[in-house]
Amino acid sequence: MPDLTITPLHSSLGAEIAGLDFHKPVDAETKAEVSAALSEHLVLVFRDQSFTPPEYLAVADAFGPLMRQHYSQHNMPDHPDIGIILHRDGQKPAAMWHTDHTNRERPPKATLLYGLTVPESGGETSIVNMRAAFAALPEAEQRRLETLTTLNTIDGHRTDVLPEDKEKYGKPVAHPMVRTHPEHGSKAVYFHITKAYQIEGMTSERSHAYMSGLLDRMIQPEIVYTHNWRKGDLLVIDNRATMHRAHGDYDRNQDRELWRLIVQGDRPR
Ligand SMILES: [Fe+2]
Repeated sequence: MPDLTITPLHSSLGAEIAGLDFHKPVDAETKAEVSAALSEHLVLVFRDQSFTPPEYLAVADAFGPLMRQHYSQHNMPDHPDIGIILHRDGQKPAAMWHTDHTNRERPPKATLLYGLTVPESGGETSIVNMRAAFAALPEAEQRRLETLTTLNTIDGHRTDVLPEDKEKYGKPVAHPMVRTHPEHGSKAVYFHITKAYQIEGMTSERSHAYMSGLLDRMIQPEIVYTHNWRKGDLLVIDNRATMHRAHGDYDRNQDRELWRLIVQGDRPR
């Protein structure tokens, strides 16, 4: 069993892990240790990685079963479980706070991002601790949120959803707005403002105004970790208790290519 060193990166979330070689099979005890670190720190950073596509796909095994990503035009042709994040040819930075693939009954437990090519500066990824966000809300609002449910589908406002993806992933899915982390036991606010087309029992307009106001109130600098990419970084984000966003403010003459994997989670409850 490798000797892991876990170093927190921020007072609210994020830790760097050293001592794990993803080119060797990861034993069950190490997987459990990494999984506990993910539940606790919510974002893990592994530096100086180097993967071919098949090697990268094998990394997912340490975290969970792979899921197919639904903007299929961005999936790597020979390895379609890898989504390519490259802000070219109409692909825009996901600049708004969100959590991934909430239109699935069992949304991904974690998102993995591998920095293949990164710009000299800018183009960060920020992650916010939604467990801390929930804890900071007034108690009456916590209780109210616990009664609310979002109805989700693949982003209706986007014009780049392929008909076959809409067909496969467009079925409405309900999720609680507060979910309990299956490993950590803590509660976190959970929604994706554009995949949620409404909160049950509320008009779409009111739902979006409420969610937007919540984001403004909840997301405070002290609960946000901003990751400055270095080439070879592997970032693992726990989607069960965070939201994240991309920063698009970098020199677009430079490339920023991240490879994304998502791994299966539980049904939120
Ligand atoms: Fe995302």
